[in-house]
Amino acid sequence: MDSVGRPELFDFHKVPMTHQYTENWENLQNFRARPDDILIATYPKAGNTWLSYTLDLLYFGQTSHSHEREDKIFLRVPMLESTFHYLEPGPDPSSDPIPICLKGTDLVNNLSTSPRLIKTHLPVQFIPKSFWEQNCRIFYVGRNAKDIVTSYFNFERMSVLNPDPGDWSSYFQRFMDGKVLFGSWYDHVNGWWKKKQTYSCIHYMFYEDLIEDTARELDKICSFLGLSPTVEEKESIVSEVQFDAMKKNKVVNHDELRTMKVNISPFMRKGKVGDWKNHFTVAQNEEFDKHYEKKMKDPILKFRNEI
Ligand code: A3P
Repeated sequence: MDSVGRPELFDFHKVPMTHQYTENWENLQNFRARPDDILIATYPKAGNTWLSYTLDLLYFGQTSHSHEREDKIFLRVPMLESTFHYLEPGPDPSSDPIPICLKGTDLVNNLSTSPRLIKTHLPVQFIPKSFWEQNCRIFYVGRNAKDIVTSYFNFERMSVLNPDPGDWSSYFQRFMDGKVLFGSWYDHVNGWWKKKQTYSCIHYMFYEDLIEDTARELDKICSFLGLSPTVEEKESIVSEVQFDAMKKNKVVNHDELRTMKVNISPFMRKGKVGDWKNHFTVAQNEEFDKHYEKKMKDPILKFRNEI
């Protein structure tokens, strides 16, 4: 931790990481995936919560009890690599606070659902091998880099569990250099894209497509999963996962998390394609485009900066 209590980045097998995502590494690498596990992989800020909630509704929206539906999304769809330490108030005001340690691997192993929905931000080379061995179904959501850097900067300003982002112009540079938590966006989206060429159980999606036509993307998700919900069920899911609905929903909006200073920037911030235009200067945009062209050579993997 640095002087203001923010975690520091360090090099971890060539990827900048913080201790919350590396300290349970052995358990993580030895994690035993089950064949019906579903992994939801994204670079940070690409829409993981959105897809997690969509899949949660799709599988459990009709069946789970009302008290279970109150459980926050980070407990329903745990982040596999995370380890969070925090203090719970003691049973009465004079007692010492109780230290709690939540490990993503334990949270997943304690899930009683089938399938288990599991979140990750890991680059593809860090995924525990049992997911490949068990032929698990995997979703990857990509989002254009300009909106990612904008969203990530605002997120790191408000999440005290993330490194201090510093000012916008230095953050912008570090993002292009891949020196942010979970590493280079360019390596992440390309690494997962390359994996999809040899591993057939990856459904590679785009945030911009979800915004453009949520119902169409839900149909593709169902067909990948072999699910056939009714028209009414699908309509209900599409309406529950609209940005305004999710922003009001305590299960997913993180408004109650003490580690997120939502008065600085809400977790459900804007939910738009193209908000980068409100942050990038003309010079930054030109610099970003030049750098992007050098990094993104694959003619098929294309991201939309606007729709
Ligand atoms: P913005 O900061 O651009 O608003 P993640 O869940 O991977 O951390 O991604 C967070 C980003 O997804 C945030 O982007 C958040 O607002 C956006 N998001 C979450 N739910 C959404 C929804 N239902 N529709 C559109 N965007 C959503």
